Amino acid sequence: MTDVSSLYAARVSDGTLNADPAQEAVLPEFERIRTAVMTPVKRGLFRKAPPPPKGLYLWGGVGRGKSMLMDMFVETLGDVPSRRVHFHAFMQEIHAGMHEARQNGIEDALKPVVEEVVNSVRVLAFDEMQITDITDAMIVGRLFEALFEAGVVVITTSNRVPDDLYKNGLNRQLFLPFIQLIKEKVVVWEMVSPTDYRQNRLEGSQVYFSPIGPEARAEMNAIWTDLTGGAAEPLILRVKGRDVTLPAFRNGVARASFYDLCGKMLGPGDYLAVAGAVKVLMLDDIPALSRNNFNEAKRFVTLIDALYEARVRLICSAAAQPEMLYLEGEGTFEFERTASRLREMQDKDWGP
Ligand SMILES: Nc1ncnc2c1ncn2[C@@H]1O[C@H](COP(=O)(O)OP(=O)(O)OP(=O)(O)O)[C@@H](O)[C@H]1O
Ligand SMILES: [Mg+2]
Repeated sequence: MTDVSSLYAARVSDGTLNADPAQEAVLPEFERIRTAVMTPVKRGLFRKAPPPPKGLYLWGGVGRGKSMLMDMFVETLGDVPSRRVHFHAFMQEIHAGMHEARQNGIEDALKPVVEEVVNSVRVLAFDEMQITDITDAMIVGRLFEALFEAGVVVITTSNRVPDDLYKNGLNRQLFLPFIQLIKEKVVVWEMVSPTDYRQNRLEGSQVYFSPIGPEARAEMNAIWTDLTGGAAEPLILRVKGRDVTLPAFRNGVARASFYDLCGKMLGPGDYLAVAGAVKVLMLDDIPALSRNNFNEAKRFVTLIDALYEARVRLICSAAAQPEMLYLEGEGTFEFERTASRLREMQDKDWGP
């Protein structure tokens, strides 16, 4: 079984990764945790189990390699029961579990849900911790307390320092104990690499493929594999009680077809949620737009506006160049702005 540093060194020497001192600096932290959780606990009548190691809260700017390092760490854990999960998806599971418990008449609905989690894992690796929702903010304190109590080791990546979590959120004072708890139980580490590798990987690469066809698809597939490693899960965003599904998501990169996002009855709130949840959107198969698919065209305009405001990177395949996508029908005038934005978003410096 390799340790995290050796795995990192191997990927540098085979050319998969560039050696980055800021990344190398945090490897001993991962190694500290790995060694502790891999050491079998000797239990005895008079011997207390050693306290679990402190976890790690890795934060910093986008594309610095936080998720990549976390994945690498999870890879080295061998048989240690561990789970790597997007924080948002995990919280949704918790809410769903609590809902079910309540329906079964259980008053303290969080308890059975947490029990199930702690019985199944030793290490929980959360990608992209961010808290924007009051329902999450109000339960994470108790949830994490129970996780730590049970000895679960928590690793997380985030773009924010803990003190800025749920910033300006409603009833924030009730959330503050959670921040305190995080600072106590995990090592907070800022990754200050100057390099945004995601941007680097996309630099110079084409991000608008036209026309639609096997060639465009192959190009899109290659970028997808490069950015995500290929493995992905759906990400379901709950917007005002409705589900908005991004069919494939990994490490901040989502992939969906035009139909997934613009062929369904979605509105501005949904697109804002999408734009807030992803750093890169890969959108396949934007068709030629006209009077016949006016509603789709209108939604597409709203989607692009939301992505533009949030400075999300867009990589897409389309039937035509932006200016030729929507030539006749209501709203062609407004579409000029969309076309211009689609151009601007192809710029190599486009991004957060
Ligand atoms: N040292 C490196 N050399 C080459 N590529 C790298 C390196 N570090 C990270 N990458 C690549 O850069 C991309 C972005 O990395 P990653 O997703 O881990 O960033 P992140 O810090 O989690 O960003 P975010 O905060 O946006 O989630 C990935 O495709 C990753 O494989
Ligand atoms: Mg990440």
